[in-house]
Amino acid sequence: MRDLAGETVLLTAGPTREAIDPVRYITNRSSGKMGYAIATAAAARGAEVVLISGPVTLAPPLGVRLIMVETAAQMYNAVFAELPRATIVIKAAAVADYRPAVVASQKIKKQADDVVLHLEKTPDILAAVGRVKGSRFLVGFAAETNDVLQYGQRKLVEKNCDLLVANCVGRSGSGFESDHNEVALLARCGSIVHCESAPKTVIAERILDEIVRVRLRSRHPESSAEVLPEATVPEMS
Ligand code: CTP
Repeated sequence: MRDLAGETVLLTAGPTREAIDPVRYITNRSSGKMGYAIATAAAARGAEVVLISGPVTLAPPLGVRLIMVETAAQMYNAVFAELPRATIVIKAAAVADYRPAVVASQKIKKQADDVVLHLEKTPDILAAVGRVKGSRFLVGFAAETNDVLQYGQRKLVEKNCDLLVANCVGRSGSGFESDHNEVALLARCGSIVHCESAPKTVIAERILDEIVRVRLRSRHPESSAEVLPEATVPEMS
């Protein structure tokens, strides 16, 4: 199946890493597996794929142009450098929301019994792309431990996405670090598709199926009734 032939998919994956000093940093539990699986699947389905990745221990996907970054600011710059050519943007990365306001140039020595770290917000890359996306198809992720659908719906609208992958994290067998995932795919048009727990390679194909389905419907709304399968009812709370 080469249903993504002619598309240029710009994808982010993995965590970002925000330095505190030369030996310490803030990061999160993202392994990059979900984003890398989507990159591999999209390339196999005929897309040109540009993968912007935070630090991960995964092998580079075949047939994909890989750009490695470390911080949220570097990811932001890389995304906007690649955005003009992209037709589909998928933001699977778990970007650090905050970074140290000041990065110490030397290792911070142990002194007081407690230390206060002053953090500042990183740029929200997905929201920034949402403001200028034009006709590009924008896919966001929401990593949530609770109220997955409600938070997902809010992010879908607030970040101007066409599709949002709501992802339950923080429990074993799904989400961060796992080889499996359970997600709900929330489309701007209101449909919700629940994907039961499955290997991330399978979930990657389901996400791409939904991108193709929603994109087709937005281009040919009159044909949607005949060719598009019904969305399933979500079970995720
Ligand atoms: N995201 C981003 N830039 C940031 C933070 C998040 O591009 N600085 C993107 C992520 O790549 C993801 C989406 O926003 O596609 C949602 O990320 P998530 O961490 O679930 O939510 P936040 O918007 O950071 O909100 P919160 O942490 O309060 O849930």
